[in-house]
Amino acid sequence: RVEQKVDSLLALMTVEEKVGQMNLYNGFWNVTGPAPEHGGAAIKYKHLKNGWVGAMLNVRGTEEVNKVQRIAVEESRLGIPLLIGFDVIHGYKTLSPIPLAESASWDLEAIKASARIAAIEASSAGINWTFAPMVDVSRDARWGRVMEGAGEDPFLGSLIATARVNGFQGTNLSDANTIAACAKHFAGYGFAEAGKEYNTVDVGLSTLYNTILPPFKAAEEAGVKTFMNSFNDLNGVPVTASEFLQRDILKNGWDFNGFVVSDWASMNELISWGVAKDKKEAAKLAITAGSDMDMEGHVYIKALVDLINEGTVDIELLNDAVRRILRVKYELGLFDNPYKYGNKIDEEKRTSSQAHHESVLDMAKKSIVLLKNEGQLLPLKKKGQRIALIGDLANDKSSPLGSWRLASDEETAVSVLEGMQKYKSNTLSFSKGPVVFKGTSTFLKELDINTTDYTGFKEAVETAKNADVVVMVLGEHGFQSGEGRSRTNLQLPGLQQELLEKVYEVNQNIVLVLNNGRPLAITWAAEHIPTIVEAWQLGTETGNAVAQVLYGDYNPSGKLPMTFPRNVGQVPIYYNYKNTGRPIDKDNNVFYSHYSDVEKTPLFVFGHGLSYTEFEYSNLKVTNTYKTNKEVTVTFDLKNVGNRTGKEVAQLYIRDLVGSITRPIKELKGFKLVELKPGETEKITFVLSSKELGFYNNKQQFNVELGDFKIFIGGSSETVLEGDFILK
Ligand code: IFM
Repeated sequence: RVEQKVDSLLALMTVEEKVGQMNLYNGFWNVTGPAPEHGGAAIKYKHLKNGWVGAMLNVRGTEEVNKVQRIAVEESRLGIPLLIGFDVIHGYKTLSPIPLAESASWDLEAIKASARIAAIEASSAGINWTFAPMVDVSRDARWGRVMEGAGEDPFLGSLIATARVNGFQGTNLSDANTIAACAKHFAGYGFAEAGKEYNTVDVGLSTLYNTILPPFKAAEEAGVKTFMNSFNDLNGVPVTASEFLQRDILKNGWDFNGFVVSDWASMNELISWGVAKDKKEAAKLAITAGSDMDMEGHVYIKALVDLINEGTVDIELLNDAVRRILRVKYELGLFDNPYKYGNKIDEEKRTSSQAHHESVLDMAKKSIVLLKNEGQLLPLKKKGQRIALIGDLANDKSSPLGSWRLASDEETAVSVLEGMQKYKSNTLSFSKGPVVFKGTSTFLKELDINTTDYTGFKEAVETAKNADVVVMVLGEHGFQSGEGRSRTNLQLPGLQQELLEKVYEVNQNIVLVLNNGRPLAITWAAEHIPTIVEAWQLGTETGNAVAQVLYGDYNPSGKLPMTFPRNVGQVPIYYNYKNTGRPIDKDNNVFYSHYSDVEKTPLFVFGHGLSYTEFEYSNLKVTNTYKTNKEVTVTFDLKNVGNRTGKEVAQLYIRDLVGSITRPIKELKGFKLVELKPGETEKITFVLSSKELGFYNNKQQFNVELGDFKIFIGGSSETVLEGDFILK
């Protein structure tokens, strides 16, 4: 039915109107990038009336959305409704933790629920399309956008991609509280050379197929309606112009029937990349490659009609793109009721709902990772402790909202100070120490990091002297990661390291609470500070979540979705690396794969995270029935051997010992989040099938290669049980 409707509408459309559907305009300026040639609002309104706009982004709120929708529906010749896109990345108004933090929960149901809530809030404000989830695998903490993804692992990343797509899109896309999702950035963006934003990407096909593409494929299989291409080139071809990615793999290979939107002005950027001499050539390259919609590039709207009329571009390419776009509009139910997304009363109710606050608080607690807890400083005692809370970030109500928070109100995060003040029976003294981030934290400006103004430094040290426990909240500002925020230094910015060391001189009972959007190289802290809590940027309910974990009202269970390096020189660093021909120092010499000035291991491994209780793994059994039913079953016991109820993410890794191409030394292929009471044991079972056991060879065929495998089980990628099996 949808196909018939699409075809009948297509038959009525002029070339200009078709090109119009492929045109996405921004609603306000300079939000996420330069608008190269915007032409002003007046032109855009004229284009809306002419039916030359298919979608808008950054228009939000029922009233504003209905204004533009009304022009498209009531004033244009065919009345085709608009898609209204927005970066709903970790919530709309009520903010969840940044996506990297959510991924640390390894809790797929919670992640899905978080996307659901975001969709409910955004849709009530007129949004029907989000530019999320970002499913770029990345191994490079220098890249600022790691905050927006699911970390370094394709297996975990694929499951999270599925959860997020299902959360946004729900079970029926035409429901008024579901929105179309967008898997981005297709593909390779997370592998930008040297972690530098918008940089070139050169990766082999094995990495592309086995590491980069799986989360995109998972999103496609989950029914994601749109893909966004990326700013980078891939092996010499800017992705917006890549037929290989968009047609051969996505549309023809995976049969994707939604549409591909360009990234912001990335069609224009084909000119700066040096593959097109002008907009006309850029348009030709992009449409031929399968980029269906032009985001704020003003390339299609300027050049595509001419290209069709001259016969340089086949009208069938246009028809295909427009069909894809109209299909999504029908599926969203926009033709039945173009105003269904956006309802003033719902908008107010939903964006301030207590239930949403509770839900993002739950997600925030689940995202916290206890990195180190020696000396049992945590949980803090609820009575009779003198606690010093130190750090500029501890009293910050903006930074915890993280990057990508366009619809939230400024300064609406619960700060750590506010969260801790709710526990009244202790003495809490607060000292902010030196100001760390001097500049304004607007979306566009670089942050100005204070390295010279020591005001407040001494007072902080004095405050620490008189405390039983010192809680220090240090790390990055929420705007130090995100788009355009690559860094070459992964240490604590500004005077924070110095402050930490000085406080340590007077009081070693320090609980370091980290705020950051990427792995940090906190090597000194990891060696000296007894207790470290990774609290990322946890969104609206940050302070409550942190306080509940610190005081033991919530037992942390998060696990790192990215490896933490010892120093920036180790980056890119990841757990599923290749063995190399010289993995170890056999003869006490230097000729093996390592750096000679740093240990070979990371600071904190992928999958690491502690609890206030302890777990024991035992009884590993592998039942190999691959020959008869293509399965290998793995069972083991997980026991809570501590004295508190707690949750553990039990992880399973494999190693394919001999392959036609080199294989990683470990690959995550299963995990289970289990809650156990003290003394309780659960038998855990994983069933491995061809999907987990196979990989793409160098002919891009997915195969299981028979032979020897190893299996590893544990609470992190530093596993504790080991077994093996042979596939025959
Ligand atoms: O969705 C984003 C994308 O991830 C980066 N460039 C801008 C887009 C729209 O805001």
